[in-house]
Amino acid sequence: MTPTDFPVLTALEAAVRAPSPHNTQPWFFELEPGAVEVHLDEDRLLRVCDPDGREARLACGAALLNIELTIAAAGRLVETELMPDRGRPSLLARVEIGGRHRPDAEELRLAAVIPRRYSNRRPFADRAVPEGVRTAVRRAALADGAGLVLVDEVGKLEATAALIRRADHVQTQDGAFHEELQAWTRGHGRDDGVPAFAGGPRSAGGLLPVRHFHDSEAPRPFEQDPVVAVLTTAADGPSAQLRAGRAMQRVLLTATTAGLSASFYSQPMEIPSTRDELRVLLGGSGYPQTVFRLGYGFPGVPTPRRPLETVVRQKSS
Ligand SMILES: Cc1cc2nc3c(=O)[nH]c(=O)nc-3n(C[C@H](O)[C@H](O)[C@H](O)COP(=O)(O)O)c2cc1C
Repeated sequence: MTPTDFPVLTALEAAVRAPSPHNTQPWFFELEPGAVEVHLDEDRLLRVCDPDGREARLACGAALLNIELTIAAAGRLVETELMPDRGRPSLLARVEIGGRHRPDAEELRLAAVIPRRYSNRRPFADRAVPEGVRTAVRRAALADGAGLVLVDEVGKLEATAALIRRADHVQTQDGAFHEELQAWTRGHGRDDGVPAFAGGPRSAGGLLPVRHFHDSEAPRPFEQDPVVAVLTTAADGPSAQLRAGRAMQRVLLTATTAGLSASFYSQPMEIPSTRDELRVLLGGSGYPQTVFRLGYGFPGVPTPRRPLETVVRQKSS
């Protein structure tokens, strides 16, 4: 199978549209007849923010869901084995492309918005997210075995925001964190990292500090009542994180179909003590994997990706 065989090319183009921490794109794909393998690229891990590769596995899980949805939407069966080789933990998944399949409405809807999803770090409109949409994003997480806690209770929202602020402060005081962030934000014309246009303004007196990638704009007020969502899993560890990445992407795509934007607040996830505090704050029953803000944002521009030639290989036998 070559990348130009239908529906492999569209699946790989969709895979690389997945979000990843600092836009590191920590993946590569190996092709063999009738199958695509998803690999973690350990050379692209964030050694300071994500030393264990947890966030990178979330990103690869998102890329995996994009592959699965695209193949299903193209009318072919998909069979996925997660972590198929215990001896090679960086081989995250093997997706076999089977016979004909009649895609359901959800597969078609979600596959169609893959190119339209992006992180929106700008202020959202002061417009409530309707109950039906909240239910839909919760269900999306459940469909992939995760939970999505919408932090509605005022006290919990304030406590979550305080944790995010504290973790943000710790990170911005850390020289190694700063150096790593700079390494992924500097330079024009790159096909990875976070470009200046994708950054957001600092929040003027707001609850939640957006991770600050670039210093290009004056602070602005953000929405009054942010919708903060925490994706949780019952277990932690590589395979739970990979599944969590799938759930994360299903939530993000479901939000996109409903006209919502999202941005991430991973600061408390990247410091073990604040991640644990968030787990306790949410009742202690699940492991927080990622934190989002959801809302109605103005359209933005997608960020660049490395060309497929650099991330796709033929599997040598
Ligand atoms: C696990 C994970 C954690 C992330 N954490 C943050 C974060 O804390 N702050 C932020 O602004 N963006 C965060 N991002 C978003 C990435 O920076 C973004 O996905 C990447 O730059 C690609 O851009 P796109 O999402 O617009 O396609 C995170 C993404 C992933 C997958």
